[in-house]
Amino acid sequence: MIEKMERQQGVGGIAVDWSGLYATRMGKVTASDIRERMKLLADRSIIQLGGGLPDPALFPVAEAAAACARILGDPAQAATALSYARSEGHEPLRAWIAGHMTALGAPCGVDNILITNGSQQGLDFVARLLLSPGDTVAVEMPSFIGALRAFDAYEVRYAALPTAVEAPLPGGAKFGYLGPDFRNPTGTSLSLAERTAVVEKAAAIGLPLLEDGCYEQLWFEGAAAPSVFALAVQAARSVEACGVLHAGSFSKTLAPSLRTGWIAGPSAVIRKLVLIKQAADLATSALNQMLVLELAAGLEAHVVRARALYRRRRDAMLRALEDGMPPGVTWTRPEGGLYIWLTLPPGLDGAAVAERALMEDQVSVISGAAFYPVEPRRNTLRLSYSLASEADAAEGVRRLGRRIEAMMALA
Ligand SMILES: Cc1ncc(COP(=O)(O)O)c(C=O)c1O
Repeated sequence: MIEKMERQQGVGGIAVDWSGLYATRMGKVTASDIRERMKLLADRSIIQLGGGLPDPALFPVAEAAAACARILGDPAQAATALSYARSEGHEPLRAWIAGHMTALGAPCGVDNILITNGSQQGLDFVARLLLSPGDTVAVEMPSFIGALRAFDAYEVRYAALPTAVEAPLPGGAKFGYLGPDFRNPTGTSLSLAERTAVVEKAAAIGLPLLEDGCYEQLWFEGAAAPSVFALAVQAARSVEACGVLHAGSFSKTLAPSLRTGWIAGPSAVIRKLVLIKQAADLATSALNQMLVLELAAGLEAHVVRARALYRRRRDAMLRALEDGMPPGVTWTRPEGGLYIWLTLPPGLDGAAVAERALMEDQVSVISGAAFYPVEPRRNTLRLSYSLASEADAAEGVRRLGRRIEAMMALA
């Protein structure tokens, strides 16, 4: 017996050097600052102004418990819920999402929807479908860090995707990735004119676009402008002829742990993405999808509550910034979503500020540099008002302001 175990432990005594075995695609893959910061969430002494996590107080816990009981209490539904789902997604949920997209101005059918494990998986799948090593992907600078990390793994180069109406789009990119609503990380949005222009310019040079619609529903001041996807579908007169894919999510409107998002686009592209889904994880959890479908019936009321809470917190954080930031610091004023972007005086390093704010002031914020794939603007920080109470946010911003002022004096 012992002899058998020894033989299994070491093949001739040679240990495997894993570090020499990783594929070249892992060369650019690094830990996300934000995922690292999530480890600090359990520490109650730290004021969380970093990650843009939905407030658990908003989770539809009672509704989810009742929906689970209904689904699992019915033998036929329970059998479906605990089986493998179709790779395309649970058909009734696909139909709900198709109706939702249609109501938002982008007429879609079931075949135009693939359900993914959160929209993050959708971003990865589109990258896997379109990007070969050495390809260029055009992104807004700064951009959502999760998308950059997904694209990095395909060994790509980056170009800037300017969204000003007059700015030309870069030639030669495989696709352009953009988040038009209350962006992560800046909190800013594209105007209707900018959306229309980007759709027209992209169509003129044959540049496909991937639209990240994660925050589309979280508007505070009147509904968001039509999505880039909706404008492209309308311009092409059909989703089948449109050059834009749209990544959607229930994470910020229901709960992130349900890991339910979607990609909407021409059915031929969706069929290709289904092949990727099959290879990646066969299917998204049927139980989660059925739960989301049940919860979707109350989505509007739920989102209304989320908008009210986040709007109050946005206002409180803007007030705290007015009171607590030294002259020379500027910030964005988001009309929805979860983020405010700070620009520090030139020469002040956001990463150093974030580090000292965490270690010495117990305030967690995110350095802005991580959101640039190239040529980071280091004098930037991302703040989120999603999680901290108004009192905590005011205290956190006050401490951060003092820290920035002290570091400015030394710079
Ligand atoms: C802009 C943006 N897109 C996509 C995601 C991914 O969200 P999920 O995979 O939970 O849908 C996030 C998460 O924070 C995000 O901020």
